[in-house]
Amino acid sequence: MVSAFDDPSYLVAASVSKSFQGTRVLENLDLEIARGEFVSLLGPSGCGKTTLLRMIAGLLAVDGGTITLGGKVISGLPPHRRNVGVVFQNYALFPHLTVRENIAFGLKARGGSTSEVEATVDRFLELIKLPDIAERYPSALSGGQQQRVAVARALAPRPDILLLDEPFSALDRKLREAMQIELKSLLRDLGITSVFVTHDQEEALVMSDRIAVMNAGVIEQFGAPRDIYRFPGSRFVLDFIGSSSQLAGTVLAETGGELTISVGGSEVRAAGHFVRGSPVTVALRPEDMSIHLPGSAPEGHNTVPVVLRDRIYVGARTQAHFTASQGESLAIDLSPDHAGRLDQGATYAAAWSPEKTLIFPGDRQ
Ligand SMILES: Nc1ncnc2c1ncn2[C@@H]1O[C@H](COP(=O)(O)OP(=O)(O)O)[C@@H](O)[C@H]1O
Ligand SMILES: [Mg+2]
Repeated sequence: MVSAFDDPSYLVAASVSKSFQGTRVLENLDLEIARGEFVSLLGPSGCGKTTLLRMIAGLLAVDGGTITLGGKVISGLPPHRRNVGVVFQNYALFPHLTVRENIAFGLKARGGSTSEVEATVDRFLELIKLPDIAERYPSALSGGQQQRVAVARALAPRPDILLLDEPFSALDRKLREAMQIELKSLLRDLGITSVFVTHDQEEALVMSDRIAVMNAGVIEQFGAPRDIYRFPGSRFVLDFIGSSSQLAGTVLAETGGELTISVGGSEVRAAGHFVRGSPVTVALRPEDMSIHLPGSAPEGHNTVPVVLRDRIYVGARTQAHFTASQGESLAIDLSPDHAGRLDQGATYAAAWSPEKTLIFPGDRQ
């Protein structure tokens, strides 16, 4: 994915650190973003996402390290000399200016001619699909409209990079999902490099070329959404992205990267490197497992015996909850049809392919 971008090191944060009142918030953080890429900073509240974004914008000074944009060190420059666009969660439109004046604000500051400014404003009003609200004031707009205007205002001066801090978190779910898709396609059409802060994993998965998963001031994993979901690099990433069931196991043998693991008396195969006797956690996505009558699981699959506890209907699928032999809970996605044919309290074989088996060190926590 990254190879599709011409400059893989367009925005570079190198060994960036930040403390507040003696407390380290970011620790020697490194991040490289390609020109034209859409990158999300994803992590729980308080992990340092906004702090990093504000340092890129110049609203906060770095304590250590440098930030480079397009080959130029920007970390010492004031915000107005960085050519960055910023969109905040709370829209932050100028209330006493009309939509047209809001969008024109950054353009006028740059000294374009009136006709150029007007033409650019009109173009961005079209791009955000709101050509008819140009003369309104922000107070007469819905939250979704205000956020579209905030995006247009940030983009109109043609920034080198667009920074967005949880811009949709105040919107209801339907509108948020529509705006995610709309913004993604707008930014792709414009080819602008974007850094997007969110604590919402689905939002990050939907929108991003790459996701930097942050935890307590460090980046735990940086990769394409598919890779982060498919191959979580740590227990933190596993727990933060998507859902999984976790079984405690012990490594019985490793031969050339192929593991045999004992899980409550069942032998399970997976790829990985661990010495014999290591405690491991076997993690499984709900969509990667299937349910069969005992003894009839597909050839070559891992299986463990499980007892059906309950079923939860969630529309297109039913999530069935089972108890495994060591008391662990196992959630498996089934079609409502299939789930309806299972008996509560009965024992089944849960099966999954060795390639879909995620292995992490240590006992289940
Ligand atoms: N101006 C500040 N003064 C003191 N502490 C701050 C300040 N800004 C942020 N923090 C602290 O730094 C940590 C990271 O904050 P922030 O970057 O806002 O996290 P996030 O955006 O990931 O929720 C938090 O513990 C927060 O309380
Ligand atoms: Mg924040």
